[in-house]
Amino acid sequence: MTFTRIIGTGSHLPGPAVSNDELAARGIDTTDAWIRERTGIGARHLAQPHEAASDLALPAAQAALSAAGCVAADIDLLIVATSTPDYVFPSTACLLQARLGINDCAAFDVQAVCSGFVYALSVADAMIASGRHRRALVVGAEVFSRILDWQDRATCVLFGDGAGAVVLEGGERPGILASALHADGRHAGILSVPGNVRGGGVTGDPMLRMDGQAVFKFAVRVLDEVAREVLHKAGLKPADLAWLIPHQANLRILSATAKKLGIAAERLVVSVDRHGNTSAASIPLALDEAVRDGRIRAGDRVLLAGVGGGFTWGAILLEM
Ligand code: UT7
Repeated sequence: MTFTRIIGTGSHLPGPAVSNDELAARGIDTTDAWIRERTGIGARHLAQPHEAASDLALPAAQAALSAAGCVAADIDLLIVATSTPDYVFPSTACLLQARLGINDCAAFDVQAVCSGFVYALSVADAMIASGRHRRALVVGAEVFSRILDWQDRATCVLFGDGAGAVVLEGGERPGILASALHADGRHAGILSVPGNVRGGGVTGDPMLRMDGQAVFKFAVRVLDEVAREVLHKAGLKPADLAWLIPHQANLRILSATAKKLGIAAERLVVSVDRHGNTSAASIPLALDEAVRDGRIRAGDRVLLAGVGGGFTWGAILLEM
């Protein structure tokens, strides 16, 4: 049987970190104490006006390729998870492909909001396992600062920009052990950007709108359920995990998920305190950080669990 395995990780954060106090100093009616207490967020990175998702994706992808010991030409599948693409089209994956100098590999975007990376990794896993592709570059890249209403203090303090990437390779050594993807479009209204481009202008509302409490409750429920689902598929228990990496939305959501699963706080990878919620980039950013600082080692069992607008959710259980 052919497995797929992560053989390299990379990430990129734009510019200097912007603290909660700096947001307040910019005129947002908030305090460092409120943001820390309700979300665990202390800072986030915000892209410069000229930076788009592909600009953040490029250095993250290059770092993942270098960590994998690959060159761009070794990649035969490129998937970018993003809800903040450079353009309506072409896809950010095609723009990234050109900038990496890869010719003629399949390249497309996946749009599943904050579950996007888990969706993209699961799709890449299936395409490699089918035997049609051998080595995939999977990227989560977001510039959520572009779709934030900076007058809405209940949302604008939560998000940040960034990118994370992995190289996934087929082979006989186990890597991805189980995955599960879900969506329920009946909940589209609790987290959305309900606008679009039409006739040369913007139609609808092009800003992120959220019912925070509904999202909170939904996220805590489905992250626990989908984590148990992939553990069950693989015949494993929470105690068999070395690390849990949930989507980095809010420290209270992360802690509640770990607690429900009976996973100690020390085995939870947390980056939301320094990155904010970077949507599809949050899981690969946290993964790369924990690989590079030596917490995640070869052979560790890691569970990635995402949840986001749609509503979408999913999980991947893997061995590094
Ligand atoms: O990828 C998924 C993305 N979404 C999420 O992860 C969001 C999940 N939800 C949450 O994290 C929480 O619901 C929030 C952090 C968004 C809000 O926390 P909450 O405990 O649900 O607060 P709340 O909405 O009930 O608001 C409590 C108070 C309100 O004031 P009043 O009406 O009690 O006077 C808000 O106006 O906090 C106020 N408030 C703020 N105050 C200072 C809301 N935002 C802020 C702010 N600074 N930034």
